[in-house]
Amino acid sequence: MAFKPAKWPRKLRSAEWYEGSTKDVIYHRGWMKNQGYPDDLFDGRPVIGILNTWSDMTPCNGHLRELAEKVKAGIWEAGGFPMEVPVFSASENTFRPTAMMFRNLAALSIEEQIRGQPMDGCVLMVGCDKTTPSLLMAAASCDLPSIVVTGGPMLNGWFQGERVGAGTHLWRFSEAVKAGEMTQEDFLEAESAVTRSSGTCNTMGTASSMASMAEALGMALSGNAAIPAVDSRRRVMAQLSGRRIVQMVKDDLKPSDILTREAFENAIRCNGAVGGSTNTVVHMLAIAGRVGVDLTLDDWDRCGRDIATILNLQPSGKYLMEEFFYAGGLPVVLKRLAEGGKLHKTALTVSGRTVWDEVKDAKNWNEDVILPLDKALTQKGGIAVLKGNLAPKGAILKPSAASPHLMQHRGRAVVFEDIDDYKARINDDALDIDETCIMVLKNCGPKGYPGMAEVGNMGLPPKVLKKGVKDMIRISDARMSGTAYGTVILHTSPEAAAGGPLAVVRSGDMIEVDVENRRLHLDITEAELQARLADWTPAHERAESGYAWLHQAHVEGADTGADLDFLKGCRGAPVGKDSH
Ligand code: FES
Repeated sequence: MAFKPAKWPRKLRSAEWYEGSTKDVIYHRGWMKNQGYPDDLFDGRPVIGILNTWSDMTPCNGHLRELAEKVKAGIWEAGGFPMEVPVFSASENTFRPTAMMFRNLAALSIEEQIRGQPMDGCVLMVGCDKTTPSLLMAAASCDLPSIVVTGGPMLNGWFQGERVGAGTHLWRFSEAVKAGEMTQEDFLEAESAVTRSSGTCNTMGTASSMASMAEALGMALSGNAAIPAVDSRRRVMAQLSGRRIVQMVKDDLKPSDILTREAFENAIRCNGAVGGSTNTVVHMLAIAGRVGVDLTLDDWDRCGRDIATILNLQPSGKYLMEEFFYAGGLPVVLKRLAEGGKLHKTALTVSGRTVWDEVKDAKNWNEDVILPLDKALTQKGGIAVLKGNLAPKGAILKPSAASPHLMQHRGRAVVFEDIDDYKARINDDALDIDETCIMVLKNCGPKGYPGMAEVGNMGLPPKVLKKGVKDMIRISDARMSGTAYGTVILHTSPEAAAGGPLAVVRSGDMIEVDVENRRLHLDITEAELQARLADWTPAHERAESGYAWLHQAHVEGADTGADLDFLKGCRGAPVGKDSH
């Protein structure tokens, strides 16, 4: 059904704080005036919270403070009242034990920052991996008009004449050093070449994937995802988004109007087309859970199964986000999906127009970056969801980043009980392993690590690398960086720390992987499996206090988004009682 804008003018949520002459209102309004705001700003105009994940400790978002000034300019121009609010910011490259452990904490805190303060609408200023889903989750739970502004990707990295991608070449160079193909000195020199400007990872890693998801969902203005951080058009996008959120508040265009099942299906297909990160699976499931859309892992397999990966970007392909922008950006990809009958064209976007209205005039300026269908990187680019006695609730694999010769394979398991066990033994030449084996890593899931770290793409043993082997099958309950690649089976559910079958795999067991038939099988009898599960005890103590306790006690499985069980659902943003 077409969206019907609300009547304007009308009384907004912020009026509960700022309108009238009661003691409470004078208290709220008067204290705001200590910042020099004139009377007429409290005249019922939309108050817009600019929720900013800027932090010196989140380098990918380090430029968002400056970018917020452009958002503010747009809000002023459109007759709104901007207020910038710093929010929880977890950097993927800095936060320990893993930023993912704090995605839900960020979402929880931001939700209450929205709910407890006089905002009528929100601008979600995000970039680094976890910042985008955490703010989208919070916005979905509060359901106030909201628009995403991402910080944009870094410029291309170049090293020794080669295009180098953030993250992707960290893994590549690290393996090359271990294989004796690169010196440690060159690796150190590459450090500054890979990340040479402001912005998020310039590959189709998780940050670029989530920026693409936000746009495909309709939560960002069309064209937002690919504009480089330092391009002046990024600042124009920020200003236009500032203007737009004011009208969204007047129209009462909310996340629940935009985040429909059709929008999620569009985003899943888009993820396949761009060769997006496996991390989008767990984030999109969580966002859907907040807005009440019953999205499942099976939807990922069903919607993505026949989607060709047409974007030639690292880690699956050759180029980087800068070239994606020059080629026309995400609107070109969405248009191609629509022309192939794989996009719900009528899905609504923050512009108030449909996704098809936004992309129908897009043009592809470089067919080596956005490939024709017959030159796609893979015809089956969606996320493959494998199931079997090793993963009763599912495990995922990204075919476009995997090796075709390993898509059907039976191999001997080499088991690492946790990441410390892996680190202790992987470089040992006495480790009984070769390239036909399957590496299995346990206790790295949402409860296990805790926080589900990006360690699923564990590096290969040096003795295998030295043979020139570049890939082996790896299975875990962990995630992997969106910038990583390889035949890596992730998010195995239930996880080992929750007593899933992964917990009882032993070195020497045989495992069968059959991606075409979506099968992941531990080749032992059902009786043996049940006997091992009956004997199982957790490998690690649970946290006894603090956020780690809360997280481990309430985090759900990766198969449903790894949200905290008590945070699922849309609670809205009621005004609440005043305490004065
Ligand atoms: Fe922040 Fe990649 S580490 S965007």
